[in-house]
Amino acid sequence: MTFEDTFTQAIRLNPDIATTKGKIEDLRQRYHEAVTAAGETAIAKQHAKGKNTARERIEMLLDPGSFVEIDEYVRHRSTAFGMDKNRPYGDAVVTGVGTIHGRQVALFSQDFTIFGGSLGEAAGNKIIKVMDLAIATGVPIIGILDSGGARIQEGVIALGKYGEIFKRNTMASGVIPQISLIMGPAAGGAVYSPALTDFVIMVDKTSNMFVTGPDVIKTVTGEDVGMEELGGARAHNERSGVAHYLADDEADAIDYARALLSYLPENNLSETVQYAPEGELEITDADEKLNSIIPDSPNQPYDMKTVIEGIVDGREFLEVQPLFAPNILIGFARVDGRSVGIVANQPQQMAGTLNIEAGEKAARFVRFCDAFSIPILTLVDVPGYLPGTDQEWAGVIRRGAKLLYAYAEATVPLVTVITRKAYGGAYIVMGSKQLGADINLAWPTAEIAVMGGQGAVNILFRDQIKKAEEAGMDVAAVRAKLAAEYTYNVASPFLAAERGELDGIIEPKATRISVIKAMRALRTKRSNLPPKKHGNIPL
Ligand code: HXC
Repeated sequence: MTFEDTFTQAIRLNPDIATTKGKIEDLRQRYHEAVTAAGETAIAKQHAKGKNTARERIEMLLDPGSFVEIDEYVRHRSTAFGMDKNRPYGDAVVTGVGTIHGRQVALFSQDFTIFGGSLGEAAGNKIIKVMDLAIATGVPIIGILDSGGARIQEGVIALGKYGEIFKRNTMASGVIPQISLIMGPAAGGAVYSPALTDFVIMVDKTSNMFVTGPDVIKTVTGEDVGMEELGGARAHNERSGVAHYLADDEADAIDYARALLSYLPENNLSETVQYAPEGELEITDADEKLNSIIPDSPNQPYDMKTVIEGIVDGREFLEVQPLFAPNILIGFARVDGRSVGIVANQPQQMAGTLNIEAGEKAARFVRFCDAFSIPILTLVDVPGYLPGTDQEWAGVIRRGAKLLYAYAEATVPLVTVITRKAYGGAYIVMGSKQLGADINLAWPTAEIAVMGGQGAVNILFRDQIKKAEEAGMDVAAVRAKLAAEYTYNVASPFLAAERGELDGIIEPKATRISVIKAMRALRTKRSNLPPKKHGNIPL
């Protein structure tokens, strides 16, 4: 419909348009048109793909009845390629505000049923407006993405709108939480908006993200790769680390987003919701179980998630990025009714070693928590960095330094508990006192040293072992004895405690209560970084 047609149509539909009654009727009709712009055929097509519509997703995400739409009457002004004959209300995105768990959020939901959810001037302006509103009012912004990218008919105008969105994503970073739900395609440079947000949730089989698609890849490099393999939800959750949660379906994705928000403050100046603290500070039967979790053999793994669950309220741990770098665990929980971020080595995966992926995963998480004043609990069982040329040449020095940087600049309360190994540089990285942790505790099973007993013995007692070999002695037994001696004499947590590098050594069963008390003690912590424009984290 052209601009001139609008009035003519209004008169046709409402001959009474000059009266108040007629105007209200006109509004009703236009509103109906706006919310049904997609049309039944397009909606059926969307459903057939296993996807919900933009509006259905909003219904699922927000508290019932809380949605207030903005800009439903916005229409594009493009005239190229006969676009002026098709100007649906709302363009290709639904925007507005509402509540989740009773707290305000702002959101946009791209509407694939209209121009493939593509982003031109009008849709871009709607997203920009709602982002500005979110920043001005200090509330989280949630983007539901399902789009063919920049609107091809609008060319550079569409590209420019992406630029404006990226700028706002960056300005909002560290000010309001930003969550992206990928529920369809996100192609080309458009992927950089979700990439700039804090959490990216993808739906299995129906979402994909890529900078260049399979056809371009085939043309340029000759490589044959399908859409799903290239940029499907599994690829980005397991391999690239772009995504933070692999949802089974859209309902699962939305549940995760809602759960995530329950741990976050509205903005960097507000506090997280405080829930009622759990019970009395007395050791329970469940606490007792932690006393037997560490195996006698240092090489035997155990599940660090059991330790986390044994410490946090209601044993509830919302893991973030569970499928990427599983050798480190990150996620949210509550201690004493308040949100905490958890970073923990996972001895069940690669013996809990740190590698590039684990370092980057944890670093970004630590920075998120710090930006939003969420205290961090670090649980340490790390034998060191993963050795190898792969790691060195891929930049483990530069990329591994990110986690150091993140902890060192964090000013939120930092509580660290060493459960078992804390060796070498990895000891320093994982929330050590020297990097700024406030309360550092260890279990009596902790081993803190430059390296593990076996490695140390091979260097320190090389001659002794050689002599034992020449004398026909049981070398393995000699080595084991020396290693045990080294561990006892050098790696003992009591040495660290003697020097104040640890604030205390506790029985595992006392951990939950000790962490609660530590967090309470740190609630009034004030700490500032030296004035600077910004630091220069190794990227
Ligand atoms: C205008 C678009 C569109 C786009 C899709 N449509 N993408 N219209 N601009 N970018 C329209 C289609 O013409 C079609 O209209 C309707 O949306 C549905 O699309 P289909 O192709 O029928 O759907 P499907 O088969 O599911 O395929 C979805 C798709 C495909 C994979 C997203 O449409 C596609 O490849 N689109 C182009 C993707 C792309 O290259 N975008 C530019 C990326 S670069 P009708 O009228 O037939 O229903 C980019 C730069 C960002 O975005 C810059 C940032 C700096």
